[in-house]
Amino acid sequence: MSEPRNIVVLTGAGISAESGIDTFRDAGGLWEQHRVEDVATPEGFARDPELVQRFYDARREAVQKVSPNPAHEALAKLDAEWEGELLIVTQNVDDLHERAGARRVLHMHGELLSALCARCEARHSWSETLLDQPACPGCGAQALRPDVVWFGEMPYQMERIYAHLRRADLFVSIGTSGAVYPAAGFVRDARELGARTLELNLERSEGSYWFNESRQGRASELVPEWVKEILTPSV
Ligand code: OAD
Repeated sequence: MSEPRNIVVLTGAGISAESGIDTFRDAGGLWEQHRVEDVATPEGFARDPELVQRFYDARREAVQKVSPNPAHEALAKLDAEWEGELLIVTQNVDDLHERAGARRVLHMHGELLSALCARCEARHSWSETLLDQPACPGCGAQALRPDVVWFGEMPYQMERIYAHLRRADLFVSIGTSGAVYPAAGFVRDARELGARTLELNLERSEGSYWFNESRQGRASELVPEWVKEILTPSV
């Protein structure tokens, strides 16, 4: 094939696993420790806001104690050096891509270090607790919730993601089980729109068979290898 110009990278919890952040569906993962309906739905929040705020407060605190790993660093290098289009679409709510130095990042499932006002819908950078019902810096209402997309809610910036997928000639999925839509459908869409597709994951995922190529291993090894490969001009 010809050299790719426009790349879309999709990342999931697997890229942050080696930084010490629990994934969702691996053994011992977050969805074994907590019920999705309780902590990741608008209904769960309406039922028991305190439980939900505590869950995200703990994750917000934890994320500030971990560091990016070589996989995040390799994607930041790609971002700095890739002259074509690049969009790193992450399902992750941590800020490890940014802390590694990546700039072309889109958080489709929101961000832990952000609070969303349920009253005025403004988003505010937030690193503290939300449990004590602080006032929204915009409208003053005590209506701040975690700025995380819950099941039943629309992920952020879908139009922008699809605009990039339409132009992509390479789609790379890293550390995601392919269990949650719409992200799980990107590989199919990218393929149908003409992109080559590559999966980098610890194991074959639910959607592996959709990819032109699937490599198994740790993100901290596979991602730097792939980035080196793609940044090395072929002769
Ligand atoms: P999952 O927990 O579903 O999947 C993580 C994937 O990463 C699995 O396929 C693992 O095999 C793989 N993995 C684990 N460690 C790895 C490593 N060191 N290197 C490479 N791969 C590794 O997480 P996601 O696919 O990100 O959504 O989950 C998608 C969405 O489901 C999340 O964004 C979240 C969750 O419910 C919402 O909260 C809306």
